[in-house]
Amino acid sequence: MTNILCIGAGYVGGSTMPIVASHCPQHRFVIVDINEARIAAWQSDKLPIYEPGLDEIVKKTLGKNLFFSTDVNKHISEADIIFVSVNTPTKVFGEGAGRAADLQYWEKTARQILENSTTSKIVVEKSTLPVRTAEAMERILNSNGNGLHFDVLSNPEFLAEGTAVRDMEEPDRVLIGGRTTESGQRAVQTLVELYANWVPRERIITANLWSSELSKLVANAFLAQRISSINSISALCEKTEADVSEVAHAIGLDNRIGKYFLRSSVGFGGSCFKKDILNLVYLCEHYGLPEVARYWDQVVKMNEYQEMRFVSKMVSSMFNTVAGKRIALFGAAFKANTNDTRESPALEVCRALLEERADIVITDPQAMDNARHDLGELAKRVTFEADPYAAAKEAHAIAILTEWTQFKELDYEKIYNSMIKPAFIFDGRNLIDHKKLYQLGFNVYPIGKPALTHLQSH
Ligand code: NAD
Ligand code: UGA
Repeated sequence: MTNILCIGAGYVGGSTMPIVASHCPQHRFVIVDINEARIAAWQSDKLPIYEPGLDEIVKKTLGKNLFFSTDVNKHISEADIIFVSVNTPTKVFGEGAGRAADLQYWEKTARQILENSTTSKIVVEKSTLPVRTAEAMERILNSNGNGLHFDVLSNPEFLAEGTAVRDMEEPDRVLIGGRTTESGQRAVQTLVELYANWVPRERIITANLWSSELSKLVANAFLAQRISSINSISALCEKTEADVSEVAHAIGLDNRIGKYFLRSSVGFGGSCFKKDILNLVYLCEHYGLPEVARYWDQVVKMNEYQEMRFVSKMVSSMFNTVAGKRIALFGAAFKANTNDTRESPALEVCRALLEERADIVITDPQAMDNARHDLGELAKRVTFEADPYAAAKEAHAIAILTEWTQFKELDYEKIYNSMIKPAFIFDGRNLIDHKKLYQLGFNVYPIGKPALTHLQSH
């Protein structure tokens, strides 16, 4: 039996480790966090994150070979392998503020591992980190002077929220980076064996530490770049009566381009795309590559443009003012099937519309609590309404901001009848049947497609 510890019980630690534990009943897994409420929630009936399929897996393993705890020090001392999945947000102070990764939580963990270790260990970077972070971690850990040896591995996580269970059960690949030394390669093999309990060997790839660290940032940058690329084209489509879905379909059939991540939207959100690209930009600047930095920075700028373009379209279509108008926002989560609202375009749209003094109502099947929390003081100016029909009642407009299936299945005739006329719908996810809505009487504004309106233009 191997004692495996995960430090950080957030979206990544909390959703990956129970799945690993379910496939490795021969090992003992502990997940620790300094956040007591989070640790309590993982052991309750209501998990701290909404992730389809995860409840059953946690139930199946909890108390058998999976345990949660706040006693970080004790479990460090008992562990053979330690996964570190603490948060690495964008730095908001000092050098690199607004772009570089804030490594304070990560470094604190490294020191804590050092202080509480009496045996040699494998330490695995699961958090997303700047390339060459493992070097600093190795320096801290191997400064112990008591003969202990730490092998640092990079094993970035590629799961997406909402599909975390499937992504972990059947990953496209598992990436493990390590030193080429004998001890480094032994550590790599130990981790390969752990994953081989359920992942086919050919999907477990190994690389040098720096390639592994960098691949994570690059994977996110490429994914986000595709969205910004198609979103840039959506703006052109709206000027030319081309249809962005038709364009995406046509180009995606080319195997070299591929069909995934070409859904034009109000913008990408989530805790990682923006943070990781900004980190990549910072690294490029740091290594004296300003042209490369500017290239990737544009992916983030295009996303901000897309969000604000959506708001401008709302305001201009509604006769250049939304002040005092009730607007129902359908969705707060940054994507469907999660309660996560970090960097959600829905909240960006909300903030901009509040700035325009609109009267905002938010409805979301899972993310209302997080939305309230993330909006802070602004939440006082927002109505939160669980029932989408009630949210839309007497509203001038609806903005669809998260692609929840529930929003697709609503009775839009009933909704239309309860709204102030002319009734507007801005579909930031191209989720619903636009022609049908138009026939019901709505003025419909999709993304990257001609608007369908009953209004007379002069
Ligand atoms: P999160 O904020 O949800 O969770 C991080 C947890 O670490 C928090 O609960 C926090 O209390 C805990 N923590 C911080 N310092 C600690 C310490 N010293 N000891 C114990 N616990 C500590 O973050 P997340 O979304 O799980 O992301 C974690 C990392 O994984 C980030 O680097 C992120 O970029 C990366 N990542 C995230 C996703 C995702 O879908 N969210 C996917 C892939 C990679
Ligand atoms: C993303 C990556 O997909 C994961 O591989 C990675 O592990 C993770 O970031 C991370 O490092 O945190 P996630 O942010 O959970 O996962 O979700 P995605 O499915 O990538 O969606 C991100 C955003 O892009 C969402 O707001 C989504 O609505 C938007 N999106 C996605 C589009 O607008 N169009 C698309 O075609 C696809």
